[in-house]
Amino acid sequence: MRQVLQNKLSSTNQGEIISRWEKLSLPEQNLIEKQLESVDLELVASLYQKRNQTISLPDIRKIETVPVLNPSSNSIEAKMEGLRSLEQGEVAILMVAGGQGSRLGTMQPKGMWPITPITQKSLFQLHSEKILAISRKVNRDIPFLIMTSPATHEQTLEFFHAQRFFGLKRDQVFFFTQGTMPAVDINTGAILFEEPSKIFTSPDGHGGTLTALKNSGLLENLKVKGIRHIFFFQVDNPLVQIADPVFIGHHISQKSQLSSKVIPKESPTDKLGNFIQVNGRCQIIEYSDLPLELANRKKPDNTLFISAGNPAIHLFDIEFLDDICLNAKALPFHLARKKVPYLDSNLKRVIPEKENALKFERFIFDIFPFAEKWLLVSTSKEEEFAPLKNATGEDSPETAKLAQCKLFTKWLEKAGITCPNDANTPEIEICPLFAIDTEEFLQRLPKNFNPKYPLLME
Ligand code: UTP
Repeated sequence: MRQVLQNKLSSTNQGEIISRWEKLSLPEQNLIEKQLESVDLELVASLYQKRNQTISLPDIRKIETVPVLNPSSNSIEAKMEGLRSLEQGEVAILMVAGGQGSRLGTMQPKGMWPITPITQKSLFQLHSEKILAISRKVNRDIPFLIMTSPATHEQTLEFFHAQRFFGLKRDQVFFFTQGTMPAVDINTGAILFEEPSKIFTSPDGHGGTLTALKNSGLLENLKVKGIRHIFFFQVDNPLVQIADPVFIGHHISQKSQLSSKVIPKESPTDKLGNFIQVNGRCQIIEYSDLPLELANRKKPDNTLFISAGNPAIHLFDIEFLDDICLNAKALPFHLARKKVPYLDSNLKRVIPEKENALKFERFIFDIFPFAEKWLLVSTSKEEEFAPLKNATGEDSPETAKLAQCKLFTKWLEKAGITCPNDANTPEIEICPLFAIDTEEFLQRLPKNFNPKYPLLME
């Protein structure tokens, strides 16, 4: 081992790598050296050192509730402004799809999961069809940026190619890959190995979007193309109203640098990020970091003091994003304790029974406090948030499918059609290419429509 590397490993608490060195072949040693070049060993050491520090929360006396705009006011003007911006090619759409879907327990990218209630379209297809529908509506191929990670990249790309980009133009879709961070042993801080010559790494969190967008050159390309706003969403939410013109319109008219949709929390401990305001700036506290006392605090009218939940639907002003990218390294890392199988120093595989590893992730919403001008717009869980996180129980395929059926039931009811009044929600699937929102649905629905269930409208 080169002396420089040896010194670096010793000074950053990675002596364990030195001791396993002799057990490896020369090609294996070379491979590890190569991987270590892209690991910031000092950063890993300092994150490990600070592992027991809790996230620093603002002074509780300075925390205020956030103002949330109800979009029904001025929504016609806002919608027109949003459509104008889309028509003039000012908007790009960014989907983060680099997560490993470990809770769902899938070996494939989560976006490949069949999610629609009847035809079992994948999340990738559903989102692509929404983008195709809105592109047709505004007569403009809206750029669709997809962030993958080394864990999801190949399969995502293959899937899009095999499915012919779901009707989108090939040159409308841009893939870029986020970075990774090594996982370390919880007790020693030593970097874990998944193979003799392979460090265990995982995607560096959706906050990795910033560095990846900048490093890929895409951000610059978008600016050159005249893009001014980026609509951000997560692959695992089938209900998201992609590039909602009303949301875009409000964001533009308020000259907001960073806007977000907000859903009301149902209970103090909902598993949602919490929007708060401190000294005029907005920030989000993860549910796991929200002290119970604060979570339970009530306003005089007995409603929750902290009631604005984060469904991870954002709009970024591109200049703001560009500035933030320069400071992307200033965003904090969040630690997650996970079970990670690894090779011990004798190269023997260990399958842990309890959490043995620390993973490090940056979160996109940590950029909120940087925005001087920000805007929160209300939506509801029923209309826009049905995340796919777990294999069963809450936030599972079952709940995500049911949420779609319930939403479409509402659309039918708006058209004056009463759905069967039994305990089970009827199976309904409305393809985005038939209608992307209630308004379009009402326009396209044939007169005297008499639905039969399961109901598929394509
Ligand atoms: P989550 O952390 O909720 O889901 O990410 P996950 O990573 O897919 O699944 P688990 O946590 O392993 O069970 C929310 C969204 O952020 C994206 C995911 O793809 C998902 O759309 N994400 C997450 C990334 O793009 N990169 C990451 O490093 C982490």
